[in-house]
Amino acid sequence: MLQIKNISKSFDKFLALSNISFNAPTGKITAIIGPNGAGKSTLFNIISGHLKPDGGKIILKDKDITGLAPHAISSLGIGRTFQIPSLFPKLTVKENIMAASIVHNRTTFKFFGLDSKSEIVTDSIIDKMNLSEFSGTPVGSLPYGVGKELEIAIAIATDPKLLLMDEPTAGIPKTEVGQIIKKIKDLCELENITVLFTEHDISFVLSIASKIVVMNYGELIFEGTPEEAMKSSDVKEIYLGKDA
Ligand SMILES: Nc1ncnc2c1ncn2[C@@H]1O[C@H](COP(=O)(O)OP(=O)(O)OP(=O)(O)O)[C@@H](O)[C@H]1O
Ligand SMILES: [Mg+2]
Repeated sequence: MLQIKNISKSFDKFLALSNISFNAPTGKITAIIGPNGAGKSTLFNIISGHLKPDGGKIILKDKDITGLAPHAISSLGIGRTFQIPSLFPKLTVKENIMAASIVHNRTTFKFFGLDSKSEIVTDSIIDKMNLSEFSGTPVGSLPYGVGKELEIAIAIATDPKLLLMDEPTAGIPKTEVGQIIKKIKDLCELENITVLFTEHDISFVLSIASKIVVMNYGELIFEGTPEEAMKSSDVKEIYLGKDA
């Protein structure tokens, strides 16, 4: 689905990404992990078009999308989660999801009646994400964890083939993270969405991802299955210290 080829990025003289290459297989969940400052968010921003790389290519299903504008990349089927402040706080959960669907589908649904089609999509997402209880709640007064789930629902409303999520569970109490991650996994499997995400809690990552990419100081240091990651001395060194 997605191939990252020799991507490099510097901020002034600081090398944030050094020759990163890996791929995210179709229909699977791939997790990028690594310590703070490893370059994970920088890479996400390059894939989504919010930053331009200094070198390398991003290939989506054989199409070179390197350096395209964010809206062009979004329309090619790459969705990403956005922060809550970018939503409409006075509109309800349902209205926010519908707005995302309408904006995304304004050309596709032209002949079907935009609003009714978007409403069907929205209701189905609300149902699958178990957000019915909050459907009529203004986004500004949602509990934090539900807001994070709404970010994911909104990204899914744009009908992505590939969904990028940079720390979708940031700030959520540990007791709730497992449940949200499980929902993401179930929904993406159901909709056949390929996922690339980051998450700091390695135990959740190992439980849902079928592929793990580990970065450290802008370099890719491991790529493989969760089982291989747990056995890798390079990965252990980063997460448990040199003598592990
Ligand atoms: N716009 C920028 N200008 C200068 N330096 C930047 C910029 N964005 C990121 N950096 C630097 O690049 C490095 C990688 O940052 P990045 O945010 O990609 O890391 P990360 O892996 O997402 O970390 P975290 O786990 O804390 O989110 C860091 O040292 C950061 O300070
Ligand atoms: Mg980050």
